[in-house]
Parts: sequence; structure tokens; C-alpha cells
Amino acid sequence: MSSERLVIRGGKRLVGEVSICGGKNAALAVIPAALLTNDVCTIENLPDIDDIDVLSQMLAYIGAKVTITGRSMTIDPSGVDKSEVPADLASRIRGSSYFLGALLGRCGHSYVPLPGGCNIGQRKMDQHFKGFNQLGAVVKEYEDAVEVESDMLVGTEIYLDMPSVGATVNILLAAVTAKGDTIISNAGKEPHIVDLANMLNAMGARIRGAGTNVIRIKGVEKLHGCTYMIIPDQIETGTLMIAAAATGGDITIHGAIPVHMEALTAKLFEMGVRVYEGDDMIRVVSGGYHRAVNIETLPYPGFPTDLQQPMAALLTCAHGTSTINETIFENRHQHIAQLVRMGADADVNGRIATIRGVEKLHGAQIVATDLRAGAAMIVAALMADGISEIENVHYIDRGYEHIEDKLRSLGAQIERIIV
Ligand code: EPU
Repeated sequence: MSSERLVIRGGKRLVGEVSICGGKNAALAVIPAALLTNDVCTIENLPDIDDIDVLSQMLAYIGAKVTITGRSMTIDPSGVDKSEVPADLASRIRGSSYFLGALLGRCGHSYVPLPGGCNIGQRKMDQHFKGFNQLGAVVKEYEDAVEVESDMLVGTEIYLDMPSVGATVNILLAAVTAKGDTIISNAGKEPHIVDLANMLNAMGARIRGAGTNVIRIKGVEKLHGCTYMIIPDQIETGTLMIAAAATGGDITIHGAIPVHMEALTAKLFEMGVRVYEGDDMIRVVSGGYHRAVNIETLPYPGFPTDLQQPMAALLTCAHGTSTINETIFENRHQHIAQLVRMGADADVNGRIATIRGVEKLHGAQIVATDLRAGAAMIVAALMADGISEIENVHYIDRGYEHIEDKLRSLGAQIERIIV
């Protein structure tokens, strides 16, 4: 079987201008929301990535009519006649779990094989199930699937044990058309949760407080169609910011939302990187000398777990010793072993990675062990002397749109090959 690899000759400064596409995780939450009406919804600014492909196949399987024109997806869910999703699709992406909340809200039943996504930790779903239960649904957990069912969902107060992104999204999807009021306390505050609430409100939902840790939902009987443009991808933005710093570059990123990037911007400042912000642009300028920093991943607005992996690559050549404490996922340091193969001086002890800065990385044959580990490999290869070959590119394609084209337009020497 053939597979694809990215081949990168490191050492080129990234310079120039680049645009950001719509957010992967926003798209994964917003697209299933279209199932909560029988009208047509159009979602604009979608990224061209594999996860969105899988989601559109899932929609088509359950009977929705999906039309994709450029970056817009039009969903006509009036023909939906199934509330079960096939395992071969569902298991490929984490976002398939949002069909649980969306189909439960739509038709009172949903059967979804356990969601896939990156192998970065246990990724439990107990808070999703607690929320569904408290809204009046019965949750059946099978060995490899979940089924939820309810005659009538009734609003209630739900306290999340941790501000889970997925549980907040799923509960929002189920609760918008429940009878009465729902309050989600200790809710996730991520920008894509706000995006989902905005889309649902554009469909006639009554949600307040998204973006704070208490979200209040007044159940409505019916939602209607809408046209909605999703927010730019803050992880793509952050990855490019880190890549620019890593190469001592000077890039301007258009179409980004600077306020979403504050935790990263603050760390880059601390390292000695200059970051300039405009309304929807960010310029990153680096002189190539970086100080070591300590990072602790936290729910938004803390430092995003999705950016600690590319950040680890940047820190391999910073002056001094850095630590990264990954508090969200228990197995998100697999990329460190790959960085060591490239000459990094780093080790992992439980949730903490310690990185002692070295002069230079060297090119190597490396593996993307998950999506953001793939981003870390790209950053490391861009910094390294010589040629690197990154395997498992399919992980990277799940979340980054034509990454090699964007990097090449900024001056990187990067090629995709089939082996
Ligand atoms: N958790 C539980 N019980 C639950 C839900 C979560 O114990 O019911 C735990 C998880 O095991 C994890 C932590 O809480 O340790 C956070 O999980 P969360 O639910 O917030 O994450 P998620 O919804 O599974 C989303 C993104 C991830 C991103 C995290 C954190 C999507 C589709 N995925 O995952 O994105 O890392 O939030 O911000 O939105 C990525 O894009 O590479 C990615 C992995």
C-alpha cells in the first residue's frame, strides 16, 4: 500500500504573507448543528481537510443532502431517515461524537460507534453522558458504540466536572430544543464553543453566556436554517506563528483573530519573538534567538494543548531549559521521542516534558504520531540542518489544509512524495 510523506529541507527562513482557513474544531461542532432543523443551512469558510470530508460522508449516509461549493457546505437535512452512523466513518474522527447530541435533539435517538481521533489519552465521555442523562435521555454504552434515546428532553442544571469542549458542545446540541431551561456550569470557553452557540442562535436558539463558564439555554420548539461563516482556525494560526519563529522568519498572517492567540503570543514574547497585531492580522518577527520558557496547558484562555506539541519543537533550540506540563491529555508527548531522533535533548516524565536547548537539530526520518505531533515534526524539520522525511502524513491532513502549499509560499522547501 502506498503512503505519503513530507520531505523538508530545513534552514529556510519563512517570509511573506499567508491566509488562515476556517477552524477544524469549529467546523466539526457547527456542521452537526444543521441536523437540528429541516431547513437548509449553509456553512461558509470551511477548511479543505480530511475530517470535513468524513463528516460530509456521515451526513450523506443518514440521508442529508450535502453540496460543497468551494469553501461552503450546504446541508439539506429534510431527508434524514437514519439515526445511526456506520463504524467505518464514525471511528475516523472525534467529531462524530457530536452526532450523538445533534441526532438526540433532532429525533430522540442516536447510535454512534465510539469516536476516533488522535490517540493522545483516554478521552473519556462520562461528562457527555451525564449531561444527556440529566436532560432525560437513556445512555447505553456498548463495547464499541454509544446509543442515546429519549421521548422528551427536559432542561436542567448540569455541572461539568471539567470544562470539556466535547461535552459542552454535545449538551448544547441536545439542549437547544429541550423543554425548558438548561444551565451548563463549568462549561468550556473555547472560541469554537462560542461559534457553535452563535450558529445555533442564528438558527433561532436562545443561548447566552457562551465564552464564559456558565451557559444558559432557553429551549425552543423549532430551529430554522441559516447561513453561517465559521471562525478562523486558531491552531493553524498558532502553528504558522511557531513555524515563523522557529525559522527566524517574518510572516504576516491574514484572517486570524489575534485575541484567540493571546496565550501563545504571550509565550512567544517571553521567548523574545516580536508579535504585532492588527484587526484580523498577526505579524511574527524573530531574530532567531529564543529564551527557554515553561508552559502549562490549560482550557481556553490558557495555553492550548493543541499547540504545545509544535511549541516543543521550537523550544528544542531555545537557550536554557524549558518544561511543558500537559494537564489536559495524559499521552500527548509522543512527539518528544521523534524530536530526540533529530538531536533534541529532551525527556518525558509523566505529564511533564523537559527540553534542554541545543544549538541545532538535524534532519531525520520521523513519524507523525498524531495530528499536532505532525505539526511539531514539520516545525522541527523546518528548523533542522539537512533533509527530514515525515511519515504518517494522513494525521496532518486531518487538520491542516494543504500545509505544504502554505509553507512553500512562505519560502519553505517542502514536498509531498508517495512511497
Ligand atoms: N474528559 C473526561 N470526560 C469527558 C470529557 C472529557 O474525562 O466526558 C477529559 C478528557 O479525557 C481530556 C480532557 O477532559 O483529558 C479534555 O477533553 P475535552 O472534552 O475538552 O476534549 P475533546 O472535546 O475530546 C477537543 C478538541 C481537541 C482539543 C481538546 C482540548 C475537537 C473535535 N477536539 O477535544 O482537538 O485538544 O478539545 O482543547 O474539538 C486537535 O484538534 O488536535 C484536538 C485533539
